[in-house]
Amino acid sequence: MTTTPIAHRATAVAARATDLSKVYGQGETQVVALDHVSVDFRQAEFTAIMGPSGSGKSTLMHCVAGLDSFSSGSVRIGDTELGSLKDKQLTQLRRDKIGFIFQAFNLLPTLTAQENITLPMDIAGRKPDQEWLQRVIDMVGLRDRLSHRPTQLSGGQQQRVAVARALASRPEIIFGDEPTGNLDSRSGAEVLGFLRNSVRELGQTVVMVTHDPVAASYADRVIFLADGAIVDEMHNPSADGVLDRMKAFDAKGRTS
Ligand SMILES: Nc1ncnc2c1ncn2[C@@H]1O[C@H](COP(=O)(O)OP(=O)(O)OP(=O)(O)O)[C@@H](O)[C@H]1O
Ligand SMILES: [Mg+2]
Repeated sequence: MTTTPIAHRATAVAARATDLSKVYGQGETQVVALDHVSVDFRQAEFTAIMGPSGSGKSTLMHCVAGLDSFSSGSVRIGDTELGSLKDKQLTQLRRDKIGFIFQAFNLLPTLTAQENITLPMDIAGRKPDQEWLQRVIDMVGLRDRLSHRPTQLSGGQQQRVAVARALASRPEIIFGDEPTGNLDSRSGAEVLGFLRNSVRELGQTVVMVTHDPVAASYADRVIFLADGAIVDEMHNPSADGVLDRMKAFDAKGRTS
């Protein structure tokens, strides 16, 4: 067997931001969205990013995922420094190494569930690893819905297609920006369960932005952002613990 044990893989870094800053605009209209952020996302770890609206969660995710440029600092995915890449190489890296799950599922309405799942690989001209693909499809419970189009699926099922699409190519890391934001609590719990299973059982690395303490409690750790900086971190979070931490932000917001 050449498979790397999960315990060993857990020590490797899937993505790293070092001294990362992102400034929008200039002069009086300048907004510091990220203020010297350093953070590691380790392999086979599920991280939630939380913080008040405007604290820089989406900006951090977009910069680390190579979807957005940054002002200073560095980002690496695996061993690759994003700053060293040309646009075309960056596009390729996003396609080959990163999976995305967005709040609006972003499925193509004319394609079936199965076709949506394999679309990124079809575009890249890569053949899916069939064994892996079948495992992913079973894990998200979509076996009997593969020939349905998105309009014939419930919201939760559509988001599960989006999760399967992100997992299908076995990316180095999956980023989700409020991936359960549009789902009722039961469908949301299902999708979060699949994400957690993909980390536990498949060794996937997942980073998820969320406002929901219950969603965050599925993660292995939560990092808290305020005003573009990481201000706290919690391991093996409980929903109540996360909620208490969020309340502390609210109290600060009211008094300042
Ligand atoms: N294109 C832009 N131009 C100028 N300022 C921006 C731009 N995008 C984001 N910002 C600012 O950067 C800061 C961080 O925004 P970001 O979208 O990362 O917040 P967030 O934590 O994801 O918030 P939310 O929870 O509301 O999604 C905010 O103050 C926002 O107004
Ligand atoms: Mg956001």
